[in-house]
Amino acid sequence: MSDAATDDRLYFRQLLAGQDFATSDPVARQMVNFVYLVGDRVTGEAVVVDPAYAVGELLDLVESDGMHLVGALGTHYHPDHVGGDMMGVRIEGIARLLDSSPEALPVHVQWEEAPWVERATGVGVGDLVLHDGEDVVRVGAVPITLVPTPGHTPGSQCFLVDGRLVAGDTLFLEGCGRTDLPGGDPDAMYESLTTRLARVPDDTVLYPGHRYSASSSATMGDTRTKNYVFRPQSIEQWRMMFGG
Ligand SMILES: [Fe+2]
Repeated sequence: MSDAATDDRLYFRQLLAGQDFATSDPVARQMVNFVYLVGDRVTGEAVVVDPAYAVGELLDLVESDGMHLVGALGTHYHPDHVGGDMMGVRIEGIARLLDSSPEALPVHVQWEEAPWVERATGVGVGDLVLHDGEDVVRVGAVPITLVPTPGHTPGSQCFLVDGRLVAGDTLFLEGCGRTDLPGGDPDAMYESLTTRLARVPDDTVLYPGHRYSASSSATMGDTRTKNYVFRPQSIEQWRMMFGG
């Protein structure tokens, strides 16, 4: 299949929680999470990346686009991405998604993340599809490559789809995800940023897990030039800046 054909088929939406959906949810407005819809317009199949907050609204959005949800991808276990308790409130997430669907929906996560996802959401390994490394998930004819990027959490992962990197909390336009929360690992984050994501071409567009900048996306080339997390030239420099 040519790139042009892929472009025509690709269904890709970036949704800002608290603005594009869950508008009445103060936690969503505060956390400014991005949720992504990725699919194949020809087959009408779509998956949701990090469904959280008003899951019913997300399902309605998919349906109003004429698409059919066939699964979910989780970047990492934090409740603002997959649901769970946070700041004293219950955030809807994959548990609600599975309850709402008449058919079994695969929820794709890295295997290292599974126990953390279960603790946060109550969704156990029996309802998760566990990946060990760089797998490809196909949605219709659209391939999504899973890129493991531990650091923010043990099983954090990014998704590459047609020149786009959906990065969760591994990488923002400015900064990267915290490594001081349970399961975080500064050295692993350095490794993820400098080896696994180094292979991502400069013209690939970074789509982060939160809107922490004025822009909602940027090329990886721009990001590598401007984002201070790419400044350290060695693990020792990195530890001095980010190792705590
Ligand atoms: Fe996070």
